[in-house]
Amino acid sequence: MSLFTWKPEYSVRDVELDIHHQKLFAILNSVYENVMNSREVDHIIPKIDELSAYTCYHFSAEEQHMLEAGFPGLNEHIAKHREFTNSIEALRASYHDNDLEVSRDLIIVLGEWLLNHVIKEDRKYSEVPQ
Ligand SMILES: [Fe+2]
Ligand SMILES: [Fe+2]
Repeated sequence: MSLFTWKPEYSVRDVELDIHHQKLFAILNSVYENVMNSREVDHIIPKIDELSAYTCYHFSAEEQHMLEAGFPGLNEHIAKHREFTNSIEALRASYHDNDLEVSRDLIIVLGEWLLNHVIKEDRKYSEVPQ
């Protein structure tokens, strides 16, 4: 069962960033499936770390693309990225404390955040004349 799946209508009209978004959804789904199946902490923490590392990689690439395109509201966008990063840290802490219920809720928050962010915020970038 997938939490969220990337769809072509989520495209930001930037092939590289679309691939990043697909990968982010895939990692998040994998974390979600593992948590739902109550896999061992030792198994899930590396997945959360993978999500964290890939998120960091994606955000810096996206911010660079936006900077080059003269995207207005870049600072606000960077602040939003930070929110997501903080939630991943909270997820890692909750999972480490074996607080499964909090972990599940946080993953859903992350999934909803990512979906909304890509659709509403990242897509504003696709409207900047290139
Ligand atoms: Fe973004
Ligand atoms: Fe993004």
